[in-house]
Amino acid sequence: MVDLRDVSLFDCRFLYNLLEQRDVSVNISHKSMPTYEQHVVFIASKPYPYHKVIQSYGRSVGVIYVTPHHEVGIQIEKSELRKGYGNEALHQLIVDHLGQRLLANINPANTPSIGFFEGAGFRHIQNTYELNACA
Ligand SMILES: CC(C)(COP(=O)(O)OP(=O)(O)OC[C@H]1O[C@@H](n2cnc3c(N)ncnc32)[C@H](O)[C@@H]1OP(=O)(O)O)[C@@H](O)C(=O)NCCC(=O)NCCS
Repeated sequence: MVDLRDVSLFDCRFLYNLLEQRDVSVNISHKSMPTYEQHVVFIASKPYPYHKVIQSYGRSVGVIYVTPHHEVGIQIEKSELRKGYGNEALHQLIVDHLGQRLLANINPANTPSIGFFEGAGFRHIQNTYELNACA
């Protein structure tokens, strides 16, 4: 059983620890690790219209959010994976966004997440290619 609670500045350390657990080889949006101070500024800027800490019996186990471009992001703490927390949180997020379009940008190498989102009803609609043009 999970609860979704609005992120606050008190969650900065927990969220930073989650960032440190990210697998940068399969992460699309964030490649480099910010400093803790940069991270606090980012959280304080309220970057996402929907930004929740996932809690199980009062314990923080992950984070889930929707960007202004309707993209869903989710991360569960490594020690809490495969306990159903992600699935439950995603379904609560979907209920909170009924009638709205939701997107999930997933690295093709991130097969667990592909299975995770497809299992929740998301379908594959495009492949996106990236070029970082240097001056
Ligand atoms: C994707 C993620 C959020 C899933 O969270 P979770 O709490 O471990 O997932 P659940 O336990 O709720 O699993 C739900 C379903 O997803 C699929 N799934 C989850 N992890 C999987 C894995 N490692 N391998 C294969 N399938 C997996 C399964 O179908 C699973 O159902 P099952 O347990 O009945 O087989 C988690 O792996 C994660 O935080 N990954 C790192 C961040 C990330 O890649 N986020 C997605 C891009 S935004």
